[in-house]
Amino acid sequence: RQATDSPLYALMAAASNYYRQALKSHSSRGPAINYLKGRGLTGIIARDFGLGLAPPGWDNLLKHLGGDALQQKAMIDAGLLIENPETGKRYDRFRDRIMFPIRDSRGRVIAFGGRVLGDDKPKYLNSPETPIFHKGQELYGLFEARQHNRHLDEILVVEGYMDVIALAQQNLRNAVATLGTATSTEHLKRLFRITPSILFCFDGDQAGRKAAWRALEAALPCLLDGRRTRFLFLPEGEDPDSLVRSEGPDAFRARMQQQAQPLADYFFQKLGEEAAPNSLEGKAHLAALAAPLIDQIPGANLRRLMLQRLSELTGLNDEALQAASATLVTAP
Ligand code: CTP
Ligand code: MN
Ligand code: MN
Ligand code: MN
Ligand code: MN
Repeated sequence: RQATDSPLYALMAAASNYYRQALKSHSSRGPAINYLKGRGLTGIIARDFGLGLAPPGWDNLLKHLGGDALQQKAMIDAGLLIENPETGKRYDRFRDRIMFPIRDSRGRVIAFGGRVLGDDKPKYLNSPETPIFHKGQELYGLFEARQHNRHLDEILVVEGYMDVIALAQQNLRNAVATLGTATSTEHLKRLFRITPSILFCFDGDQAGRKAAWRALEAALPCLLDGRRTRFLFLPEGEDPDSLVRSEGPDAFRARMQQQAQPLADYFFQKLGEEAAPNSLEGKAHLAALAAPLIDQIPGANLRRLMLQRLSELTGLNDEALQAASATLVTAP
């Protein structure tokens, strides 16, 4: 699926070295160091995640790496340079940003995220799709989590780069982030090859709650008996980074233990809000929403138990519910 011997890997490694070195010694590193310190990060975590700096200016990386026309063409393919289609002028994609290298499962840098130091937009700039980077398949922090611990009892799925890193800073080193995309079944298949338990912990806002339901839908086809998925909802306005820094790792761990909802609980709570089973119409609606989703679960035990629960809520028997999942009727 990926060009495993692509020359772009060497280029991304060289770029990553340049950015890391710039964070250590470039004359403009001061504000970047202050920014990272202000977000509670130490040099050790910055090193573990290979954080770097794209200095201000249009052609720092271009000058450093872009020797000849062929090299510059490769840098464009790698998403490191942008070429103005009218003038043909080439310039660095990442300028004046903190750089987060995105590594594949073998530790090779395949892309970058870059954050502005202030409130400019866009807050994050990411590498485009390239021959070695397919955004929808990658999980930020997975390589680093596995480096730290080969045996992960549980993996946390969060939204952002800084969520992964802030958790790692507090020694919660098992978080990964999708890269600004929805959690997909592909992502979860990969994670379930590594761990039996996934905890989703998205931002405490409308987008985060929407992401949680989409993650549930993506998880259903992965739910073999013996696998577990849970959902931790954060207070309004918080994300894992802000919360773990304000309340500390112990309180955050306690939250994970005490407040994480098993998938089935979240499933029936959420659908029950949409279709309250306190009237015949409500029960019918709930069955119509829930049955086709439950039907996607491959684990026979969990599937039966959830059907049983649906049966208790609606009064419809197994046979009726099977039929409900088979015939999705749309209104005239
Ligand atoms: N994201 C992105 N491009 C943006 C905004 C967000 O790619 N313009 C992705 C990033 O991976 C980001 C994640 O979506 O980390 C979550 O977005 P958000 O919650 O808005 O950002 P935070 O990670 O909380 O960023 P920070 O704490 O640095 O402000
Ligand atoms: Mn491709
Ligand atoms: Mn957010
Ligand atoms: Mn956030
Ligand atoms: Mn944040």
